[in-house]
Amino acid sequence: MASPQQKLEVLRQAIRRHDALYYVHSRPEISDVEYDKLYRDLQYLEEQFPNLITSDSPTQRVGGTPLSQFKKVEHEFPLLSLDSEMTEDNVRTFDERVRRELNQAQVEYSAEPKFDGLSVELTYDHGLFVSGATRGDGVIGEDVTHNLRTIHTLPLRLKERSGFPPHLVVRGEVFIKLPDFHQLNQRLTESGEATFANPRNAASGALRQLDPQITAKRSLTLICYDLMSKMEKPAMHYDAVSCLHTWGLPIPPFRQDCSTVEEAIIFHKDMAKQRDSLPFEIDGIVIKVNRFDWQRQLGEKSRSPRWAIAYKFPARKELTKVRAIAMSVGRTGALTPIAMLDPVDIGGVTVSRASLHNVDEVARKDVRVGDTVKVERAGDVIPDIVERIEIPGDERMEPFIAPEQCPVCCSHTIQEGPVLYCTGQTVCSAQLKGSLEHYVSKSAMNIDGLGKKTISQFVDEKLVKDLGDLYTLNKEQLLRLEGFAEKSATQLIDGLEKSKQAALPRFLIGLGIRHVGSHIAKVLAHHYGSLQNIQESSIEQLQEIHEIGPEIAASVESFFQEERNLQVIQRMQDLGVQIQEIALAQREFLQPLARKSFVLTGTLEEMTRDEAKQKIEILGGRVMSSVSKKTDYVVAGADPGSKLEKAKKLRVTILDESAFKELLSRNEISNFS
Ligand code: IVH
Repeated sequence: MASPQQKLEVLRQAIRRHDALYYVHSRPEISDVEYDKLYRDLQYLEEQFPNLITSDSPTQRVGGTPLSQFKKVEHEFPLLSLDSEMTEDNVRTFDERVRRELNQAQVEYSAEPKFDGLSVELTYDHGLFVSGATRGDGVIGEDVTHNLRTIHTLPLRLKERSGFPPHLVVRGEVFIKLPDFHQLNQRLTESGEATFANPRNAASGALRQLDPQITAKRSLTLICYDLMSKMEKPAMHYDAVSCLHTWGLPIPPFRQDCSTVEEAIIFHKDMAKQRDSLPFEIDGIVIKVNRFDWQRQLGEKSRSPRWAIAYKFPARKELTKVRAIAMSVGRTGALTPIAMLDPVDIGGVTVSRASLHNVDEVARKDVRVGDTVKVERAGDVIPDIVERIEIPGDERMEPFIAPEQCPVCCSHTIQEGPVLYCTGQTVCSAQLKGSLEHYVSKSAMNIDGLGKKTISQFVDEKLVKDLGDLYTLNKEQLLRLEGFAEKSATQLIDGLEKSKQAALPRFLIGLGIRHVGSHIAKVLAHHYGSLQNIQESSIEQLQEIHEIGPEIAASVESFFQEERNLQVIQRMQDLGVQIQEIALAQREFLQPLARKSFVLTGTLEEMTRDEAKQKIEILGGRVMSSVSKKTDYVVAGADPGSKLEKAKKLRVTILDESAFKELLSRNEISNFS
C-alpha cells in the first residue's frame, strides 16, 4: 500500500490540478461528483492523520475561527493609484511626455485590462503563500490572509521547479465574476437579505469579512498584474507577468505588448467592444511603460507613477427620470420594485428599466415617481439606480408605498426582512410562471423549447396549473397555441418525455426549494441517494450533514411537509417521471476498479511501481503480491518475472504498459499527474 503521506500528496496534487482546470482554465476534466469524491477522500485521510495536514493543502483554504479585527500591515512597497485619462488625445500627450522625459523617439508599452475590484498584495516565501493585504491607505493595509486563502485561483503553493524567488511580493486585483455575483444576489434575495448594488461592492464586502466561511461562499477571484520583488527580474513588465503565470499565478486573460502608444489605443478599442460580453467587469485599460529601467527612470509622484496611466472607458452612469414604479413577482413570491425610466442611452445601450431590489431599498433611496435618478449599467447586470439627484425647485410626488396586495393575484403581501412577499403561493400565476421557468432552466431539468413566452401562454390558457401539468401536455394542445408548428411541438413533447428520466440533483434544483441551489442539491442527492430518503429525513438529520445549516435544513423540511408539494411530486411520478437514485451507480462510477485485483511485474517505463500502485488504489483497485485465480489483471513491464508465466497459465488478463495506461485513462480520474 502507498503510505498515507504519499496518498495525501497524490490527492492534493490531483485536486490542485482540477482546481486549476476548473477555476483558471474553465476546462474541467472531471465531473463535480468526481471532484467531490477526491476532496472527501482527502478530508477523510487528513482526519485520520491530522499531523500530516499541511498549510497548502486544498482543505485548508477555509480554516480557523473568525477574527475579531484585522491586523494592520505595512506594505513592503507603497500601493500607488493611477492617473486616469478619458480621451485618445490625452493618452498621446502622456506618451509624448514619457518619450520626452526618457529622451526616446519610441517607447514600448504593455497594456492590460483595468479590473474593477480591489487591489491586494500577496507574499510568498519559498513558494508558500504566507500573507496578503488590502491596499488600505497605500502605505498601511489590512491583513486579509485568511480570506484570500479561500480564493480558488490563488495558489497556496507556487509551481514546483518553476524558478520562483525565495521571497516574492505580487500585486493583483480581487473581484467577483458576474455569474457569481448574480448567484450571490439571488441567494441573498431568496433568503430575504439585502443585495449588493454591483460586483465591486460585493467583492469589497467579502474581502473584509472577519469570518472566512462567509468569504468562501462569495466566490472571489484573483488576477495578478505586478511583480514587486527587488530580486533580479526580467527587463520588461510583459515578461515579468509571464513569469507570474509560469509560477502558477493567475494573470490577465488579455494583454498586449505595444510597440507604440497607437497599439495601446487600438487595444482600448478592442477591449471596449468586448467589455459587455466579458464575465467580469473592467472599467478601462492600464498602459504601462514596458521596460523596468525606464519605469525607474520616470519614477513616481506622491500617489501615482509617472510610467503608467489608466485609460478609462466612458462612464456608464447617466441621469434620467422615473416614470413609474412597477412590482414584478418572482417564483418565490418576492415582489421586486422596478423603476420604469425615461429611456436613456448609457454607453450605447438604451435603458428604460432599473431594479430597485426591494421595498426597503426604495425607502432608503427615497425614490419617487417623477424623481431624477443616476442610473448605472454594469456589464450584463440589470441597470441599477445609484442615487436620487435632488433638483432644487422640483416638486416631488408622494413617497412610494409598499403595496398591500400582489399586483398579479391580489393576495395579501407580507414583509420578511427587506423583502415583500405575495402570500398566494397556490393561486399566483406570476409565481407559477417563475417556478415553471426555473424547473425547465438549464441548471435544473434543462428542457429545451420552453421559453418565457410559451410558459406564459400555458399558464394564461390554464393548460398548466402546477409543475405536474407539464407532463399532461400533448401535441394537439400545443398546435392550437400561437407560435407552435409540427416540428416545434414534437420537439417539446420529446424534450418533456426525455426529462422524465430525471437525475436526482436536477430534479431537486427544479423543485425550487428555498436555499437549495445546484451545490446544495448535489450535497443532498449524494448524501441521501433518493428523493424518498430526503423526504423522510428530519431537520436534525439534515443538519448533521456538513454544509447544511439550520436555515437550509428548515427550508427543506418545511418544503416536504407541505401537503401540496408532495401531491405535485406524486402526480409527476404518476405521469411517468422517474427520479433516478444515485448512490449505488455513482459509487461504482467513482471507484471503477473497485473489487479488481492487480499484480505488478517487471519495470514500467513511464512510472515507478509505487506510482502505478497509487493510481490503481485511487480508483478503488487492490494490488496483490502474487498471482492467483482471483487476480483480475497482471501488469507486465519490461523483464517480467515468473508472475507472468503464472498469469498465462491461469489465463489471467495480461496488460502491457500501454494497455495499462489505457485502462487508467478510460477511468478518467486517473487522469492527474
Ligand atoms: S497596475 C502603480 N494593472 O487600478 C499602480 N492596476 O487606479 C500599478 N487595477 O490600485 C497598478 N487592474 O487596484 C494595474 N491591470 C492592472 C490593473 C490595476 C486594475 C487597479 C489597481 C490600482 C488601481 C489604480
